[in-house]
Order: sequence, then structure tokens, then C-alpha cells
Amino acid sequence: MDDTEVFAEPPRGPGALRELITEERAVEAVFEAARTRAESVAEGIARVRIAEGGFAPSRSWDVLQPLPPDHGASVRQDAGGTVLDLGGMRVALSGEGRLRVEGRRAGVWLEQVGPPVWGRARPETLGIRLRQGDALPPGRDGVLARLQLALDPADRLWGFGQRTGGLDRRGRRLTNWTSDSFGVHHHRGSDNLYQAQPVFLAVQAGRAFGAFLHVSHLSRLDAGYTNPDRLGIDALGGEIDLFLFAGPTPAAVVEQLTRLTGRPLLPPHWALGFHQSRWGYDRAEQVLAVVDGFRDRDLPLDAVHLDIDYMRGFRSFTWDPVRFPDPRGFCTAVHERGARVVAIIDPGIKDDPGSGYRAADEALTGAHVLRNADGSPFRGYVWPDRALFPDFARAEVRAWWGEMHRESLVEAGVDGVWNDMNEPTAFDAPFSSGQARDRPFPLALRHGAEDERASHLEVRNLYGTLEGRATFEALARLRPERRPWVLTRSAGVGSQRTCATWMGDNDSWWEHLAMSVPQLLSMGLSGSPHAGVDIGGFFENAGAELFARWMELGAFYPFMRDHTAQGTRAQEPWAFGAEVETLARRALELRYRLLPYLVTLAHEAAATGAPLMRALGYAFPDVEATLDEEDAFLLGPWLLVAPATRPRQRWRAVTLPPGAWRDFWSGREVVPERRDEARPALLPTPPGRPPLLLRQGALLPLGDVRRSTATPVSELRLVVTPATASRYRLVEDDGLSPDADGAGTAVTEMALDRDEGALRLELQARAGGFLPAPRTFTVELRLDRPPDRVVLDGADVSAAWDGERHAASVSWPDDGAGHELLVSD
Ligand code: GLC
Repeated sequence: MDDTEVFAEPPRGPGALRELITEERAVEAVFEAARTRAESVAEGIARVRIAEGGFAPSRSWDVLQPLPPDHGASVRQDAGGTVLDLGGMRVALSGEGRLRVEGRRAGVWLEQVGPPVWGRARPETLGIRLRQGDALPPGRDGVLARLQLALDPADRLWGFGQRTGGLDRRGRRLTNWTSDSFGVHHHRGSDNLYQAQPVFLAVQAGRAFGAFLHVSHLSRLDAGYTNPDRLGIDALGGEIDLFLFAGPTPAAVVEQLTRLTGRPLLPPHWALGFHQSRWGYDRAEQVLAVVDGFRDRDLPLDAVHLDIDYMRGFRSFTWDPVRFPDPRGFCTAVHERGARVVAIIDPGIKDDPGSGYRAADEALTGAHVLRNADGSPFRGYVWPDRALFPDFARAEVRAWWGEMHRESLVEAGVDGVWNDMNEPTAFDAPFSSGQARDRPFPLALRHGAEDERASHLEVRNLYGTLEGRATFEALARLRPERRPWVLTRSAGVGSQRTCATWMGDNDSWWEHLAMSVPQLLSMGLSGSPHAGVDIGGFFENAGAELFARWMELGAFYPFMRDHTAQGTRAQEPWAFGAEVETLARRALELRYRLLPYLVTLAHEAAATGAPLMRALGYAFPDVEATLDEEDAFLLGPWLLVAPATRPRQRWRAVTLPPGAWRDFWSGREVVPERRDEARPALLPTPPGRPPLLLRQGALLPLGDVRRSTATPVSELRLVVTPATASRYRLVEDDGLSPDADGAGTAVTEMALDRDEGALRLELQARAGGFLPAPRTFTVELRLDRPPDRVVLDGADVSAAWDGERHAASVSWPDDGAGHELLVSD
């Protein structure tokens, strides 16, 4: 979009360059009317700020984590200008004060084209829904900063947070603005959904770098949409504040991004199990009957969700006295059945003061709500009709909101909280009137305390993040012995520290099943790995085959929930008849077997940001052919998943990355030829056996099938595939205590090597305070034929051979001691 369309006035440039100031680890170009500053933030991380006048002050709600400086970074002059050298990345300001970012070997990554410009924006051009007649607020909030950067034509652009479409978003314009974009808005060409993560990775074989636009105001990234080789950055608030991550791999970028913006939460184990939900479970007995439905059929289940039906007249923090008369008794009954309760909370508080509804009384008397420009409380319509909205930008409001959870939820025994409608969303008329249309909040609405006022424009993208933080901190305070678990619909960068998330209201369409893979891969690349998509689809009715396939794929989602809208067909795993129930059971059983692996991956995510679901190109960044594979993925390092996503699909093709890959089910190697290169594979997709491949050198920890994570694992099974050398670190914990590194954790280091023709597996003694319940330890080697000889700790043992799965197994009672297994294969 050209300048004349987006600006309401002729845009201003920075003016002439006055001076170039160099500091120990920063360089700043001072223009007549603007500044460009590049500084080293920490190892592998630089920050570029471009603003008219001075830089904006930092805010109490900022997500940036304090980091130690990179003493290796330096500033020097060269022919091209003043260079801030971070080792793997150089950020230069030319003699004219223009920005250039380049790699170690001089390849140019990004280069400023023309001067930045500023001016008041025309709001109707910004790609967001507006209230009729709404105007941008006066001052900086209404000023758009615009910058153009040249992109390398070979770069794929990954990330961008919660999005539809494929993995590479080059060619799209991406608005960062949280919005209730349900159902039909989830098509491939849609723009913004519920979340705003202005983060991307630029990837080509052998190198990757990343960027985070640290702007909480509305922003847009033109990723080669207007001009294929340009990245356009538009930011309201008047400042371009861009963090750059040196890579050099996608994994390194995610590490750098999450080091800066916070590491993903460690979920309690029950959150990694299966969740059953629907809008419309509206009586306590009905919910218990659903839980019993799982138990009677011996289907695994860890959590049941209460949608808005449990509330009294859709009032957050209340229970309907008739339909849920005994909240505590209800939660106890769910707990006795080995499951957990997750309850929904909407931020829209029914505007019902003086009627005994505490949240409304306190919201108004405490002045906790968002206010119109004239100071009056802002009101909008949501499920409870007219509602007030807490101002989460203020610490005291977050504390008050947190406290609201004490009696109604925590003391009743609710285990997790599901934050919904927190973009935030409101309508312009009651639903009962039939006239309700989504009506955006006024842009000039005021957030923040007296000394830190911000317009709705600055805070909106953080509303869900700040609510999530309030909820998380409350749960941590009210129940310190347990890991809090919060699920949120809206989020921004930083939300990964406190919340898991899902993709919102999808449809029961095959396309939405298929799209879930690049969606969740993008979330992981954007620093938010604990994400899922509603299994079966929210709107409309899933057919039997779609539901079965969705369960099959959902078994690999970091967050696995079956959910659907009010009025749709029943969607419990048994609702489609015996055949689908069998397929759903297989999916659930596989999910539960994967749990020790998922727990280890969750620990890895908490330590480094590494996503659980990984693009093939994330794991094989040097292999060109893997970079464009977007509907198959790796779960952790060892499993390649190539889901069936079309009706009656019999086969599917996938690019196999280099190395040997064995079919998880048969143990046979697929495409054994040309192991040292990427090559195509055609995999059968029979229902109930999702194409699942084991990487060479896999050290994959599996558990046994349990009815829920409340039952301890009775057999830990390590699935091993041959390789010359491989290492793994199994991390286990008690599943509940909040201290990830503390007494509740245990680590087992393992090494697989090939010595003189024999495979040697070395398991080190378990280290750490967590003591698992008594269990069997089994090593399952997937081999072409039965091994000639197996020696455990120096003594010959006989391995059980399963010819159908090509598996040789050796078991012993797990004593936590070190062991050595030698296998002549
Ligand atoms: C929103 C949520 C959905 C929920 C419904 C009723 O549409 O996204 O998950 O079921 O509200 O609360």
C-alpha cells in the first residue's frame, strides 16, 4: 500500500543526518527529526529502534526479560559504515544512517530501502474493524511509522504467530491485532486471528535469522505482498522497535527469542493428557456422565472442561445454583474419577451491581474497569449481556482479578482456568435482540494507571497476555504446591510463560484439520509451543471419518482437546459408533504411551523454547528439500508424523530427511536407499495407524496406557533404533510441583554407540529427587532381524523377539541404577 493511501497527511522523513554516535556496544544515527539506534542486547540478540523525536518509555507490562550483556559485541568502522558486530550477525548503519543487517560471511540479510517516514494514519486503511466514526487518538498513538527493508529473494518467512495458511508466509500482509476471528475467518487467506505475535524467521538452507517487532500497538508486516523482495513494517505508536536474532539455525532463533521474551511454562502432566469439552454440557450430572463414559469404556481422560454453561447467567466466578448446585462436590466427584476440572472465565463482567454479584460490585467500586475517554466505565455486550471489562494493564487490577479466583474456583477444587473472549471481544447489542454484531472497542479507550495511561491501541494486543498473567499468578499464589495451568484464546508475545493456547473457533472441515499442522508449527516457531486446535472442529458437525482422523492427528498436538459448539452433534469419542470409538481409542492410547516423551519435551521447551512439534526444516536446517515440507512434522527429535488430512486417503507422500527412518508400527526401514540424502517416501495411511516414523538413533521413552496421568507409569519402554552415535536426556518429574529444576525432577542420560559391530546402550543412573513408582524398564530395539546376542551389565540375556514389529525387548525392574546393554545385531 503506498504512502498516499495510508497517511492522512504528507508523511515526514527523518531529515538530514546530524551525527553518528558510537558507544561500546551501540551505534546511533541522530537526524534532524529522528533517531536510529542499533545496540547489542545479549548474545545473539540486537535491537534496532527508529523513532521520530525520542524513544518511547518502557512500560510496566513489557515482556522483555533482563539479560546479561554480550561482552563479545563490539563496534567498529568499515567501508560500509559503522558496524555493530555480534559475531554471527552484523548490524550496520551506513554513512547516511541507513540500516543493514548481514551475516558473518557478508551475505546481506536485511537492508533499509529509503528513509523511514511518519505521519498520522487513516485508520480505515489499517486492516482492522473499526467502530463507525472511530478515530485514532491524538498524539503519538495515532502516528504510523513506516520502514521498508530489502529481503533476500531466497528466504522463506516462517512464524508470525497464530495464523492460517502455510508455513512460509512470504507474499502475505500480516496484521498484528487481536480479534475474535471465528470459523469462516480461518481460511488460508485470512489475516489476523485472536493473537498477535509480530515475530518471524527468515530461513534458507544453512542459515536462519529472526526478528521480533517489539510494538504492542497495531502493526503490520508486509512480507513481500506489495513488493516480493521487500519487507514493509508499519507500526502505530510512532516507533519501529525491532529485535534481531542471529540464528544461525531456526532452533537458535527460537532459543534467542524465548530467552528475550520468556520461556514456555512447564505444564502439569494432566494438561498433556486428553481433555474433553463441549459448549453445552450444562448440568453437573451430565459432565459426570461424560467422565463416566470414558471410565466405563476404559478410555484415557485427564481433564473435562466447563464452558460458560456452569455459570449463573454467564457471570464469571459464579456457579448456577440449580444446574451446578455443589461445585466442591462436583470437583471432588471428577477427581475421584481420576480427572481434572478446567473452568472457563470470560473477562466481560455482567454489569449488574447491587444484586449480590461481587465481581460487578468490586469492579465498579474499585474502579477496576476500562474507561471511555470521558472517564465513564466502558460497556459492551457479551454472553451475560451488558458487561464491564477489567483493565488488566494495571497491577492492582490483576491482583484483584486473581483474588476473584480464590473462593469460586480454587477453593471449589477447579484445577485449571480457560480464559476466553479476551481479545477482548464485545458486541453492540444483547444476543437476545438478534442484533448483536461484533463491535470493536473504541480506539481511544483509556487503559493503565494515572501515571501510565495508554490508549486501547497500545494495550489491546496484550489484553489476553495480561489476563493470563493475572490468572497464572493467582493460581501460583493460591495453590503454591501445584503448577498453575491456564489456557488462553488471545495472546501476544510473552504469553507462553503463563498460558497454553488453542486456535479458537475452527470449523469441522478437512481443510481446518490439514491447516492445523502449519498453524501449530508456526506457534512453536513464534515461541509458543503449548498450543492445540479443537479436535473435531468447533462450528458445524464433524463426520465420523473426519473426527477419527482428527483424533489421530491430535494425539501429537502439544495440547489435545475435543471441543465443539453448542447445538452441534455429540462429539465424544464414542458418539460416532463402534468403529470410530476403536480408532479414537487407538489415538488416545498412543497419546498416553507418548507421555514420558511429551514430558521430556515440555522440559526442553521450558529450558530452551524448543517446540514440541517441529517443522522438518527446523530439525534439518541445512537440507533444502525439507524446508518446504509443511504438512508433516517431527514430534521432538525422534518421531516423524505424516498425517492423513483428506477423506478416504490411502497414501501420502512425504520428504524423508537424510538418515534411516523406520516405520513405528512394523519396525521396517522405509526407503533404505540413498540414506544420506533427502528422498521421497509414499506411506500408506490406514485408519488407526498414522504414518509415524522413527529416526535413526531414536531413544524414545514411552509409557504404558493409563486411564489418566494420576496413575503412575508401570512400564517405561525405551524404543531404540540403530545408529553410530546418539544421545538423549530423559526428564521425569512428579507432574505437579511447580519447581521445574527442583527436588521433583529426575534426569537419565543415555548414550547409544556402535562399537565394533555391536550396539552399546549406556543408561546412566537416574539423577535428581524424583522417585518414580515401582516399574519395569524395558529396552525395545527395532532391528531388521533378531539380535545374535544381547548382554546386559556383562551377563547374556535373551531378548523377546516380535517379528511383526521387528522388536527385540529386554526388561528389568527399574532400580534407577546405571546399566549397559550390548547388542550384536
Ligand atoms: C467462544 C470460544 C469457544 C466457547 C464459546 C462459548 O466461541 O472460542 O471455545 O465454547 O465461546 O463459551
